Amino acid sequence: MPECTNDRLISFVTNEHVLVTGGAGYIGSSLVPQLLQHGYMVTVFDQFYYGISSLLSVIADPNLRIIKGNICNTNELRTVLTDEITTVIHLAAIVGYPACDENPELAIEVNETGTANIVELIRPNQKLIFASTGSCYGAIKGLCTEETPISPLTLYGKTKSKSEEMILSKGGVCLRLATLFGVSQRMRLDLLINNITQILLNEREIDLYEADFRRTFLHVRDAAHAFCFTISHYAKMKEQIFNVGDESMNMTKKMAAQKIIEQMPFPCSIRASVTGQDKDKRDYEVSYEKIKRLGFRSTISIEKGVEELLKTLPQMSLSEIKLSKNIS
Ligand SMILES: NC(=O)c1ccc[n+]([C@@H]2O[C@H](COP(=O)([O-])OP(=O)(O)OC[C@H]3O[C@@H](n4cnc5c(N)ncnc54)[C@H](O)[C@@H]3O)[C@@H](O)[C@H]2O)c1
Repeated sequence: MPECTNDRLISFVTNEHVLVTGGAGYIGSSLVPQLLQHGYMVTVFDQFYYGISSLLSVIADPNLRIIKGNICNTNELRTVLTDEITTVIHLAAIVGYPACDENPELAIEVNETGTANIVELIRPNQKLIFASTGSCYGAIKGLCTEETPISPLTLYGKTKSKSEEMILSKGGVCLRLATLFGVSQRMRLDLLINNITQILLNEREIDLYEADFRRTFLHVRDAAHAFCFTISHYAKMKEQIFNVGDESMNMTKKMAAQKIIEQMPFPCSIRASVTGQDKDKRDYEVSYEKIKRLGFRSTISIEKGVEELLKTLPQMSLSEIKLSKNIS
């Protein structure tokens, strides 16, 4: 079993074959190249809602297999979740509360039934790693640890917390990711830091609601690294939940916006807004002690992420921007 270290240039040859559901998405398209770099065979199983272009940079890799399919269809899943798969990384979902509220039946079908299908087909010797979210917590006073009782407020949070229960019942690992930011091959501009950066670039000012709400952030490549880390530390992590992020990126929305403004190429300002609200009520501080004790560190700062965003966003075409707004 390879040790997944912070040195992402090291390549290994292994017998691991990783099935990534939703592997063409925002996280998947940062994760798949990392898995291939570690020498893993990778099968991406995805509906390709956002197309295939996010995986074109690795398409020539002989260790990559691409299958179009739906996690809600057990027959399609059965054809890919075969004996040769050693790890399933389950990312496919209807992501975020706006997308779930827009089509609640689809959200329940994909996020709950889809997970139930994976749990039903997984074999005892196969590792199972699930992308969960801080939206499971709901409104929490004090520091959120993995022991904090959860009370998800939105359909998105509820479907993800039900999935967590299913994954844990099969001995899997749930990674509760902070809000992600940064550039990935499939872009998302609906995520707070990416979204603020884009608005400031266009308008030089931003109306910020719930500006003093505390949020927690993680770069998308660090999130991808957390999945690689979990494969190589699975024995110590199975049957458990881990918050994934870094305390240095616990901050209010206003502090995050100020950090972005410091890097903008022209003067920008924040206007406090009384309209708008986060239905997930994410105003929380999260502890990342548990995963840190195992040696996981996130390494990419908000400053570095914004630097990459500032190189990318001005060059995006209108159709790319539309696709990145994530109304899936
Ligand atoms: N991005 C974040 O900030 C964040 C934070 C916490 C947790 N997560 C979780 O991480 C996972 C991935 O998020 P993302 O940001 O990459 O989202 P994304 O929307 O970019 O990617 C989701 C992928 O899943 C695919 N998909 C959707 N329904 C499917 C189905 N029925 N069958 C097969 N494929 C399907 C889509 O085509 C897409 O490629 C999700 O489970 C999400 O809940 C994301």
